[in-house]
Amino acid sequence: MFVLKVILGHFVVSLSFGVKIAWLEQIARQEVLLKGCTANFYEKNKQNLNITSLDHILVDKKHKLIYCYVPKVGCTNWKRVFMVLTDKSNATNLWDIPANIAHANSSTLKISNLPKLEALSYLNNFTSFLMVRHPFERLLSAFRNKLEDQSESAKYFQTRIGRYIVKKYRPNATSDEIKSGKNITFREFAQYLIREGVTNELANEHWMPVNDLCQPCLINYTFIGKYEWFEEDTRTVLDMVGAPYIDFPVSKPNYTRDKLRFYFQQLSLSEIEDLYNLYKLDFKLFGYDLNPILGFEIG
Ligand SMILES: *[C@@H]1O[C@H](CO)[C@@H](O)[C@H](O)[C@H]1NC(C)=O
Ligand SMILES: *[C@@H]1O[C@H](CO)[C@@H](O)[C@H](O)[C@H]1NC(C)=O
Ligand SMILES: *[C@@H]1O[C@H](CO)[C@@H](O)[C@H](O)[C@H]1NC(C)=O
Ligand SMILES: *[C@@H]1O[C@H](CO)[C@@H](O)[C@H](O)[C@H]1NC(C)=O
Ligand SMILES: *[C@@H]1O[C@H](CO)[C@@H](O)[C@H](O)[C@H]1NC(C)=O
Ligand SMILES: *[C@@H]1O[C@H](CO)[C@@H](O)[C@H](O)[C@H]1NC(C)=O
Ligand SMILES: *[C@@H]1O[C@H](CO)[C@@H](O)[C@H](O)[C@H]1NC(C)=O
Ligand SMILES: *[C@@H]1O[C@H](CO)[C@@H](O)[C@H](O)[C@H]1NC(C)=O
Repeated sequence: MFVLKVILGHFVVSLSFGVKIAWLEQIARQEVLLKGCTANFYEKNKQNLNITSLDHILVDKKHKLIYCYVPKVGCTNWKRVFMVLTDKSNATNLWDIPANIAHANSSTLKISNLPKLEALSYLNNFTSFLMVRHPFERLLSAFRNKLEDQSESAKYFQTRIGRYIVKKYRPNATSDEIKSGKNITFREFAQYLIREGVTNELANEHWMPVNDLCQPCLINYTFIGKYEWFEEDTRTVLDMVGAPYIDFPVSKPNYTRDKLRFYFQQLSLSEIEDLYNLYKLDFKLFGYDLNPILGFEIG
């Protein structure tokens, strides 16, 4: 974590007490990550970074900034910021950039689109970051937003994945239920994930583990941001690269322990363990545990 120490030295000397605390927190996050990576023998795979698979890593050459976007962790807004930083948009209010434009492939340059040597040089030299969140909170957010929601935008997921889940995981499903693909229960969704996995080709980015999307053990991210610290961490990243002030809209949903427990109590303990195992690396690498769901830890 040499890169971090250099940057850290710079910031500790020049910044205020509050920022020092933030950097101490950052060192702790980096240590947890390094420990998790080592424990999982990731070191030996360091040679095997596959650039063409890094299609979630965005590049801003102007500010020498790299961002691995993780769906359900504020990524739409960060993509909007990238459009502003890279002059793809002149918007002064981020909300003026429609979400579908922010998500369009052509709106931001991805590492996976670059020749290998160029990609490696950016990965080695640019400030890089990702934003993470409690794995089960992220999973629940994806479920509520993409499958449970009765809005138009959820329809895409309901017709593609919802119908499939009802058909396969609801033994007494009526043909109307299968046709709509709505009203999937969290338990049906969990059973689908447990049976069919979260990392294969067909797995969806909204619930694919961060480890698979961002390769945090192969790429030396300068900064690990957390959803719980979203505003502070966003400000820190923008400051690090000398970005202009950007008013970052934050609409943090209110995930209380009660809501997590409401959904997870539909599952048996062994189903929770199975789900935990699917996201085990995300739990370990980013320092999360099952306390918010169970009131105690497993694994
Ligand atoms: C690299 O990733 C791409 C895209 O995911 C995949 O098609 C290709 O087979 C991978 N290459 C290797 C050597 O694994
Ligand atoms: C932003 O504004 C500049 C100057 O008015 C203009 O040249 C440029 O095309 C605009 N960029 C976009 C993406 O609209
Ligand atoms: C963006 O590109 C990826 C892979 O290159 C492709 O799978 C996806 O469908 C594209 N998305 C859009 C909205 O074009
Ligand atoms: C960036 O990283 C590459 C290795 O990929 C290295 O050769 C190069 O010297 C580094 N520095 C700059 C300024 O490009
Ligand atoms: C990450 O850091 C290690 C050790 O300094 C280095 O060997 C490796 O090439 C770096 N990885 C990337 C993608 O820059
Ligand atoms: C299917 O079974 C579940 C649980 O056993 C029950 O709650 C539900 O009402 C049943 N649905 C139909 C259409 O019979
Ligand atoms: C889904 O649930 C809602 C509210 O509980 C109900 O009104 C609707 O009929 C259900 N739809 C289907 C297809 O089961
Ligand atoms: C979150 O919701 C709970 C109850 O649903 C409420 O007690 C709490 O004040 C809310 N917190 C925030 C920050 O809105």
